[in-house]
Amino acid sequence: MKRIEIERFGGPEVLQVRDVPAPVPGPCDVLVRAHSIGVGWPDVYVRTGTYPWQHLFPMPATPGVEMSGTVAAIGSDVKRFAVGQPVYVSSGMLGMRGGCYAQARLVPEDRLIALPPELNLDSAANLAYYQVALALLEECSRGQTISTVLVSGASGGMGTALVQVAKALGHRVIATVGHDDKRAHSEAMGADCVLNYRTSDCGPAIAAATHGRGVDLWLEAYAGENLADALAHLAPWGKLVLYNATGGHPPASFFDAWRTHMAKCLSIQYFSMHVWEDDLPARRALIQRAVALMSSGKVSPPAGRHFPLEQAGDAHRLLESGRQVGRIFLRP
Ligand SMILES: NC(=O)c1ccc[n+]([C@@H]2O[C@H](COP(=O)([O-])OP(=O)(O)OC[C@H]3O[C@@H](n4cnc5c(N)ncnc54)[C@H](OP(=O)(O)O)[C@@H]3O)[C@@H](O)[C@H]2O)c1
Repeated sequence: MKRIEIERFGGPEVLQVRDVPAPVPGPCDVLVRAHSIGVGWPDVYVRTGTYPWQHLFPMPATPGVEMSGTVAAIGSDVKRFAVGQPVYVSSGMLGMRGGCYAQARLVPEDRLIALPPELNLDSAANLAYYQVALALLEECSRGQTISTVLVSGASGGMGTALVQVAKALGHRVIATVGHDDKRAHSEAMGADCVLNYRTSDCGPAIAAATHGRGVDLWLEAYAGENLADALAHLAPWGKLVLYNATGGHPPASFFDAWRTHMAKCLSIQYFSMHVWEDDLPARRALIQRAVALMSSGKVSPPAGRHFPLEQAGDAHRLLESGRQVGRIFLRP
């Protein structure tokens, strides 16, 4: 079988295809044949050696946080799975963030997620991001009344999931995108208002869309030197949630800007799924809630872009360009 491996950290070219023997299940293992493999930023961080939990990946390492597939073989003691059954693999359930860029992989029976037959396997390969969106929106709004959520970078993989889940939770959604050709996507995902932050001053449009109040939750993964601008557009008691800072942290003057808005009682929160790193029941429950949400049809991941497994490097180049609309996948 084929598997992607890296032997050193670096650019997309370090993602090499290897022919390796198909693994043989131990008594409690399930061999999962991949159908669709999600590609996301955690894989880029593994590839570049910048993932904070990198010690979990001895070389050669295989990236990949999630795959949907079917059961190809089971160990002698496996009771809950049968050959041919649709399943979902989250490497987060395995205590690491890798191993899914492969035609097949072994998963202990108690770490595998069964999928309902009605759930499309391409949609299921999005579950990681829908689970993050669900957890982020619910946990970060605890005790807060949410009317409007702003999703920045809304056309990307996480942004798409956040827009759809926020709508499913009954919130009004403002989406920001960096290019006009991404607008239609965010509108189709259900955003009530889509703004191009590169070509217009979003302030007046946010004020108009919120009757001058501002947004209750601002969800941000880029951050960077202009992050303080978000504070001006938050409603009283509003919250800025960072779920990454790919553009770097803001300058120290950010704290002065925060203080300028003191009378709005704003808060700032970091969110990471790693808060549940050692809590497998909580992780399983979250994934199962995301499965239920997707199966109900309340969220419906768009088709995204598929690359053959062998072209994992091209998939990473597109992801890092920021030009992809929706999610990127590998087809084994
Ligand atoms: N905290 C957690 O638990 C957690 C879990 C999963 C993922 N994440 C994070 O979520 C973020 C988004 O991941 P993703 O897979 O959805 O990525 P993605 O599909 O590439 O989306 C990222 C979006 O960010 C925007 N962006 C703004 N400036 C950018 C720049 N300089 N370079 C690239 N993109 C830029 C782009 O949209 P525009 O150009 O339209 O702005 C792009 O669509 C990542 O930082 C990832 O680490 C966090």
